Amino acid sequence: MDDQILNTSAAAEAKVVVKNLHKVFGNKPDVAMQMLYDGKGKDEVLRQTGQVVGVLDASFEINKGEIFVLMGLSGSGKSALIRLLNRLIEPTAGSVIVDGEDVAKMSTEKLLNLRRKDMSMVFQSFALLPHRTVVENAAFGLEIAGVAVKERERRAMEVLEQVGLHTFAKHMPSQLSGGMQQRVGLARALTVNPSLMLMDEAFSALDPLRRTEMQDVLMKLQQEQKRTIVFVSHDLDEALRIGNRICIMEGGRVVQVGTSDDILQRPADEYVKAFFNGVDTNKYLTAKDVAQKEQVTIFDRPDDPANGFSAALERMRIYDRVYAFVLDEQHKVLGIVSAESLMACIDKPRKKLRDALLPDKVTISGNTPLNEVLKKVVEYPFPLPVVDDNGEYIGAITKTVLLRKLCKEIKA
Ligand SMILES: Nc1ncnc2c1ncn2[C@@H]1O[C@H](COP(=O)(O)OP(=O)(O)O)[C@@H](O)[C@H]1O
Ligand SMILES: [Mg+2]
Repeated sequence: MDDQILNTSAAAEAKVVVKNLHKVFGNKPDVAMQMLYDGKGKDEVLRQTGQVVGVLDASFEINKGEIFVLMGLSGSGKSALIRLLNRLIEPTAGSVIVDGEDVAKMSTEKLLNLRRKDMSMVFQSFALLPHRTVVENAAFGLEIAGVAVKERERRAMEVLEQVGLHTFAKHMPSQLSGGMQQRVGLARALTVNPSLMLMDEAFSALDPLRRTEMQDVLMKLQQEQKRTIVFVSHDLDEALRIGNRICIMEGGRVVQVGTSDDILQRPADEYVKAFFNGVDTNKYLTAKDVAQKEQVTIFDRPDDPANGFSAALERMRIYDRVYAFVLDEQHKVLGIVSAESLMACIDKPRKKLRDALLPDKVTISGNTPLNEVLKKVVEYPFPLPVVDDNGEYIGAITKTVLLRKLCKEIKA
């Protein structure tokens, strides 16, 4: 007990340990495994035996309280790997240890219990029960776990509040937008209060704005209560934005695990390098309005203050911006960094993201009348971050956006 209290650096503690994990899809896994052990590649295995090697000798650890992003092209084995963690699919060889216990050796009953109570999963398309209300859907996990109706609805309401949906509790799923339905899916996973969340492309079906919004919801929840989250994504920006560490997969293999900075600065091989260079910047710049609303925001992580320099620069490059807003985990604006100010301290030994902040922090309140905003925006060299009453970031005003708005006002 004392040890637990003294151990403040929980980040280094492993929640999940994956060792030499393999998954072969097909009816002759043993033959395939023998070929792999003999040093044959997965292509040869497929050619000779028709067996598909989905995951090939994966070994890594996931730390308690971190967001661990699995990234890779389609078919690289991300979904197979995340499903091996809660044994939705059976491993062919190797082990998955969660909280010190081998998942493969658990009885079916214990495994079901774990999935219901401590290891939730959120998928890309989350099927809600169409004839149940939002709150009933959110409470569904607890219903399966046998929790009494009053208690489960109380807990579901609490979580709906956290994901900003409490006013929709009595609505039916069909009355909600896609983004809101996804939030209900997230709420359902959260009501059981799991210590481990497995999210497979949970936000991938959403448009860029909604996706950023959901990432923000997740970051906020993470700030309130640190869970271990395994998050599958094929979106580089998403991985850089929310991941404490990123695991890159190629052809069933784990090719690199590290912080975004590790990976950007020291890519393990050409595949990883190509992955980062191959980002389709057009994707972000097609809709001008969206691009203007979508300023680059970076989360400052107090437990890991040096992390994020390269990620910040990379994300600014992707969005073609020379500045970014730095937010703390409560979404409060800490200030602005520019490419220049980041570069100026990137080689300092004990660098912190906060050291790179530009000296004069300016924010404007969301309630400020437009005529007062005008002068500030004209004088200020960067877009102005707009904050709500709690000082939390809600967006930014650029000169262009302001001019457009003013032109409309004059015409009207
Ligand atoms: N049930 C299955 N049966 C046969 N092959 C499968 C099955 N599930 C996945 N695969 C194969 O395993 C590989 C990894 O798939 P998957 O984990 O879904 O990739 P990702 O999620 O990265 O797109 C792919 O080649 C895929 O075709
Ligand atoms: Mg997948």
